[in-house]
Amino acid sequence: MRVGILISGRGSNMTALIKAAKDPDYPAEIVVVISNRPDAAGLDSARQEGIAAISIDHKQFDSREAFEDALHNELLAHKVEMVACAGFMRIMTSGFVKKWQDRMLNIHPSLLPAYKGLHTHERALKDGAKTHGCTVHYVIADLDAGPIIMQAEVPVLAGDTADSLAKRVLAEEHRIYPLSLAKAINKLS
Ligand code: GRF
Repeated sequence: MRVGILISGRGSNMTALIKAAKDPDYPAEIVVVISNRPDAAGLDSARQEGIAAISIDHKQFDSREAFEDALHNELLAHKVEMVACAGFMRIMTSGFVKKWQDRMLNIHPSLLPAYKGLHTHERALKDGAKTHGCTVHYVIADLDAGPIIMQAEVPVLAGDTADSLAKRVLAEEHRIYPLSLAKAINKLS
């Protein structure tokens, strides 16, 4: 299955997917990485792994729809069949989401439905949560609300800061995103 990854920044989840897909038994081939931010560090990491990496700067477009049309066309140009969002920081219109229904995944750094949106680690700490984690889910028009594919839980430890907690969650993100993508692909085929 030909997979395109959407990023906006560092791209560590992207790298985890690229590495997993190098295994000949893995059901996906990562064919393109697209960032809406030209300065995303993940673009260079993708190129170092030999993957085509393209930026489509959302600021160059007059509307969300015009940006999404360009994004969609680039995905189609690479014959992408499935999309993995990995730290892609753009809210998508329902029109774009429908085009990729059941074929677009996202990773979110919380145990959804808890802590949708931003600053999840800070919010979990502030609430005194005992556990935290990450979720891979299908993308639907409602933010961070799509059907869940997989979750991983981590403990919140005494003395945790947002950074130390984020690091513990991120290690689990890198583990479950490749597993979840494979699971979603196997479900389709
Ligand atoms: C991750 O924590 C992911 O869950 C969230 O954004 C962050 C992206 O990190 N959606 P990276 O770019 O994959 O390193």
